[in-house]
Amino acid sequence: MTQATRRIALSAPWIDERDEELVLEVLRSGRLSLGPTGPRFEEAFADAVGARYCAGVSSGTAGLHLSMRLAGVEPGDEVITSPYSFVASANCAIYEGATPVFVEIDPRTYNLDPAAVESAITERTKAIVAVDIFGYPCELDPLLALCERHGLELVEDACEALGAQYRGRPLGSHGHPAVFAFYPNKQITTGEGGAVTTGSKAQHELLVSLRNQGRLETSSWLMHGRFGYNYRLDDLSAALGIGQLEKLDKLLQARRSVAERYFELLADVDVETPLADDEDHVRSWFVYVVKLPAGADRDGVAARMIERGVATAPYLPSIHLQPYMRERYGFREGMLPVSEDCSARTLALPFHARLERDDQEYVVDVLRAAIG
Ligand SMILES: Cc1ncc(COP(=O)(O)O)c(C=O)c1O
Repeated sequence: MTQATRRIALSAPWIDERDEELVLEVLRSGRLSLGPTGPRFEEAFADAVGARYCAGVSSGTAGLHLSMRLAGVEPGDEVITSPYSFVASANCAIYEGATPVFVEIDPRTYNLDPAAVESAITERTKAIVAVDIFGYPCELDPLLALCERHGLELVEDACEALGAQYRGRPLGSHGHPAVFAFYPNKQITTGEGGAVTTGSKAQHELLVSLRNQGRLETSSWLMHGRFGYNYRLDDLSAALGIGQLEKLDKLLQARRSVAERYFELLADVDVETPLADDEDHVRSWFVYVVKLPAGADRDGVAARMIERGVATAPYLPSIHLQPYMRERYGFREGMLPVSEDCSARTLALPFHARLERDDQEYVVDVLRAAIG
């Protein structure tokens, strides 16, 4: 077995002295939750994405769950979503007793195919959870038009897409609920954390109540006007988020430069590189995922890369084929061939804002050899 000579991580957050200073300030203030830092972060986030309202939450998953409550999803409803995503975008429907209905993706964008969505609508359909996978904006206008025609709610899972734009406007600014996530592999991090943006005051007020155990603005601490959760974002996390937002442009630009270098370096490697931006879609770089040729031994390639110290991951397995999904709903291979084919062939390369050029060269050399 070849000895690994270096180790290149799949992702890494960018934390600097300013972040440390902001977190320390909150720590010293003693206001660790429900203090003034949460609203400051929310204001800065809303500003960054051009949203009217923003509610900080404890994770992207929590934000997706609350969005199901906003959409009025109830037991027996169906929620149409993408199989080529992280499990949380489907689990949120199950949390409310609804059934996730998976439909095919567009193999170019890896996002929901609006025609497939339309053909899956039934009288039980309540909402669509559209994911901006790998930071590439989903087909918002066709999906919003579908929702309008069929009386459905659109929830956007923008957990991977802070900074992306659809038709010239940032994700989060289009009015419907959009959910963002700040786990340390994301464009910005708060450790754990998330945010839900919306253009509706009523939805925002509901989010603020639901995340805080159903308290109403007028409630005392032990009075709960509705059934809620503890999905609050604490002030230490919010402080880190403020530091991260202060350098958002720098973080996004650095990620873009790393992606551009991968495009150059991969020009002669037999893989499909990520879809380029166009007039309607501007990606925010979350991960750099390549697709291997049909029939390639993706798992073998991944194992050979890991052996040489290059972290990699089979992004993303199709959700309907996860063990608990098979067991619960009887889903099997062949149900969604486009998504399954992408799942079998895609591979994430190490990717973060401060990945050095010589590390990228090494990653590409190792990938080339692993495929060869
Ligand atoms: C597409 C997508 N949805 C939802 C989530 C869930 O976010 P969190 O891990 O903050 O709960 C993630 C995070 O990995 C994600 O990538």
